[in-house]
Amino acid sequence: MTGGRGEAEWWRDAVVYQVYIRSFADGDGDGIGDIEGIASRLPYLSDLGVDAIWVTPWYPSPFADGGYDVADYCDIAPVFGDLARAEALIEEVHGLGMRLIIDLVPNHTSDRHPWFTRALAAGVGSREREWYWFRPGSGPGGDAPPNDWPSVFGGPAWERVAGDGDPTQWFLHLFAPEQPDLNWANPKVAEAFDGVLRFWFDRGVDGFRIDVANAMAKDPALPDLFDRATGDRATRAGDGDDRLADHPYWDRDEIHETFRRWRRIADSYRDRLGGPKMFVAEAWQVRRGGLARYLRADELHNAFNFEFLATAWAPDVMRSVIDRHVSMVAAVGAGPTWVLSNHDTVRVVTRYGRAPGATAGKEPHLDLVVGLRRARAAALLTLALPGSTYLYQGDELGLAEVEDLPDEALQDPIWRRSGRTIRGRDGCRVPLPWSEDGPSLGFGAAEPWLPQPAGWARLAVSAQSNDPGSMLSLYRRAIALRRSHLVGRGHDIVWPETGPGVLAFDRGGSFACVVNFGTDAVALERGAEVLIASGPLDGPNLPTDTAAWLIRP
Ligand code: GLC
Ligand code: MG
Repeated sequence: MTGGRGEAEWWRDAVVYQVYIRSFADGDGDGIGDIEGIASRLPYLSDLGVDAIWVTPWYPSPFADGGYDVADYCDIAPVFGDLARAEALIEEVHGLGMRLIIDLVPNHTSDRHPWFTRALAAGVGSREREWYWFRPGSGPGGDAPPNDWPSVFGGPAWERVAGDGDPTQWFLHLFAPEQPDLNWANPKVAEAFDGVLRFWFDRGVDGFRIDVANAMAKDPALPDLFDRATGDRATRAGDGDDRLADHPYWDRDEIHETFRRWRRIADSYRDRLGGPKMFVAEAWQVRRGGLARYLRADELHNAFNFEFLATAWAPDVMRSVIDRHVSMVAAVGAGPTWVLSNHDTVRVVTRYGRAPGATAGKEPHLDLVVGLRRARAAALLTLALPGSTYLYQGDELGLAEVEDLPDEALQDPIWRRSGRTIRGRDGCRVPLPWSEDGPSLGFGAAEPWLPQPAGWARLAVSAQSNDPGSMLSLYRRAIALRRSHLVGRGHDIVWPETGPGVLAFDRGGSFACVVNFGTDAVALERGAEVLIASGPLDGPNLPTDTAAWLIRP
């Protein structure tokens, strides 16, 4: 480990595996993944060599947004198991020397959470309503939403209170209407979440991934986002340099007070293996260089670097994104964090398989052979970078996005909210293939909640396990080599001169990672040993879309 904060800061060089619980493994045969399923596959995760597992929300929920609509933060959804099973899982994970982090969803609750139903029942002007953002509508009779904020999932971010009593009132939901936003300016909300953190830390959870960490604070004046006359984003100080400056809900300064409060709670614990507890922030929209604020020494430990995820397959931009992130986090003493995909994004193989610059108006051409070759190279690239890597389930199998799910199978609220024009995120959430046959390719005993494509049998874990050329074998070997060669090398990277189309960096002198983005093979450094390559080499040359790790004598 590196960075001068002590050996126990395990996340600084960790590989963290993201389990999207509904789609990982189904232990009880109802077609939906669950805790028993995770437990049954722990040996797989341990063999893969990951340091920690992040489990997406497992709380009781009406599942309007796949569980990101939480109805009780201190319990387990019956469909996933129960509290005793969760506690046993935590023990089992620790028994294998791994850590377990869970998802915290503090920006909003489910509309079935007792805090919300209580607020509705208590009526206008009550203290209970202060837990959320209730406001009178605008226009005659309060028929229009209080302001112009859009929901991330489409449509307005306001829903009118239904039923009798106070039809002029609306409530804020930056996501689905079933996900009312909490009012973090209310100290009661903060106190309630202190209890949630303690509840899970007391049960041995090693940390939290914080859902939409950048949206929790709102400008209490709830100003319009757009200028009603011009349609422009309303101008405020700092705009022009950065469109998110003084934004009414993204990346506001007040949220950091909450993170400092949480850090004090986390620091009052040690994990079972002697390390501190940790937080990783999900924050897509932040001001320029803004992630560093989340990572100050008394705030959060990691923050997903989505700029890297969103970068096209091109060496120059990738290099500048990498450089910017490494130096930004170093300035606050934090570690870099890499992520190629997650349950909200298009699968890596598909993303890199889409030809850039396709003719406007036409679907960009998709080549999954190219996509897979690049995804393999990207795996070596990210695993060679300093810091922690978050690996989304199924990427280690090279799964592509499932783009032909039948309409009636789609569950993502984006599909409905967009008037069935945007298909949403179900295509990266299809249940994993574990074996080559059976009704759900080993996922469980029943039909899975989303249908698996016919071609997935050959991508099953059982099919890839003994194939040295498979994506799974590549990940297993690379994670093991990373542990033996890279962990402990420090977080500095050096960029040697290369020809065009090549991205190469050195870590700690003797280690180099080289990726060829160009169309022609390039010569590898003579005298260096190739530790691993993402595809076959062409004699002493590295072919197109291929990465290699080198060790110099
Ligand atoms: C985060 C989650 C996403 C969810 C949203 C609302 O972005 O990753 O899945 O829909 O928050 O909770
Ligand atoms: Mg199940």
